[in-house]
Amino acid sequence: MDRIQILDKVFEKNIPFERIHEAIVKMAHAMHSDHKDSDPLFLCVLNGCFMLAGDLFKEYPGACEISFIKLSSYSGTSTTGEVKSVIGLNEDIAGRVVIILEDIIDSGITVSHLVKDLKGYNPKSIQVATLLLKPAALRMDVKPDYVGMDIPNDFIVGYGLDYNGYGRNYKDIYKIVEE
Ligand code: IMP
Ligand code: MG
Repeated sequence: MDRIQILDKVFEKNIPFERIHEAIVKMAHAMHSDHKDSDPLFLCVLNGCFMLAGDLFKEYPGACEISFIKLSSYSGTSTTGEVKSVIGLNEDIAGRVVIILEDIIDSGITVSHLVKDLKGYNPKSIQVATLLLKPAALRMDVKPDYVGMDIPNDFIVGYGLDYNGYGRNYKDIYKIVEE
């Protein structure tokens, strides 16, 4: 299946699961070599991150915990546009080594607000990991500590990423075909 239709748009296969998996294994090992002596808490940002969370967690070869959060957004309080606040953070992260796990960083607005919010809970450290990074789209001063791969500034779906709610279920990543 090299081309798929989602709602009104056509997408073509762009990153096969094998390449995604390779990138995930590398990320998990890099994280483990930095955190052998601590037990990091992976904070996964729903919805997009659910596939990555499972696959990465299975490859992390040491003590660690996982938790999931969502972000609610409201507008008009910031010059950067949308401001997001954390919902569903049940763990006490004070003194913990926290690694935020994101499917994709585009403008960086989401993750930079999240880091700012989480700092208020006094974790020992906060790092950011993302499977995909669009360097050309970055508008915030965000430097993720772990990046699976850099990608061009194209709209993509699959592997948890959606177009208006659809397309998350594909194992591979597909990029939009501009017509
Ligand atoms: P940011 O706040 O601009 O960095 O965007 C982050 C969020 O936008 C991600 O968590 C995704 O939900 C969504 N997003 C950004 N780029 C894409 C894309 O190419 N396809 C699907 N969702 C995307
Ligand atoms: Mg997302």
